[in-house]
Amino acid sequence: MIIAIANQKGGVGKTTTAVNLASSLAAAERRVLLVDMDPQGNASSGVGVRPGTTPLTIYDALIGNATLAEVLQPTPQQTLFLAPATQDLTAVEYELFDEDRGTHLRKLLSTATDYEFVIIDSPPSLGVLTLNVLVAAERVIVPLQPEYYALEGITYLMATIDRVKNSLNPGITVEGIVLTMWDPKIGLLIRWRTRCASTSASSTQSSRATCACRRRHRTACRRCFTTSAARARKAT
Ligand SMILES: Nc1ncnc2c1ncn2[C@@H]1O[C@H](COP(=O)(O)OP(=O)(O)OP(=O)(O)O)[C@@H](O)[C@H]1O
Ligand SMILES: [Mg+2]
Repeated sequence: MIIAIANQKGGVGKTTTAVNLASSLAAAERRVLLVDMDPQGNASSGVGVRPGTTPLTIYDALIGNATLAEVLQPTPQQTLFLAPATQDLTAVEYELFDEDRGTHLRKLLSTATDYEFVIIDSPPSLGVLTLNVLVAAERVIVPLQPEYYALEGITYLMATIDRVKNSLNPGITVEGIVLTMWDPKIGLLIRWRTRCASTSASSTQSSRATCACRRRHRTACRRCFTTSAARARKAT
């Protein structure tokens, strides 16, 4: 299964989510490939491979100078492998100009048949790199920091996912939204959580979000919102 961690907003916890998910699956002895698609290379250093210390990176594979197998690196976890990234990856935005520019990663990952899970960390943008991620993915997990401008960003991301679903990747589904850096004491955040649940449910049919009662509702649960708001009022 190929799972992308995506949100064009920066610093919301994409890499933290990708590294922890990949590492947890590997700790459960599943064969996992972590693909770093962010030129910042944070996912690479997150699993112990310092950017710039490997001869080949995912950039070489994307532009056709190497196979995926040639760029893979082992990690301290026996069943976790990494396709590393460095700053070079920014050049992909300018170098992939063919009409298949969105499908390069999908073609590469079709050769990764040894892995039960492929986890892809995305950059904070909606350019060619993220397009390649969304075209390759079967599922998308969206880390979301509950703050004022996040909803605008998430609407745009969901529209992009819908466009990819209607064109290059009909099989893509949004697995869910992961609220990160959540502070339960702030009542405003509770209202955001409820709005996020309704937004994700209406923009992509298969999206689900966990409401305050910890059950997975398609829409926000009025009863839970009332109880959690009362709890937050009590806490402040
Ligand atoms: N759940 C969390 N609680 C508190 N801090 C967190 C949490 N998740 C991530 N962080 C911290 O927030 C910062 C940004 O996280 P991270 O690098 O994972 O975000 P990102 O979305 O990948 O950023 P970028 O868009 O730059 O790639 C890091 O310093 C990380 O340690
Ligand atoms: Mg990151």
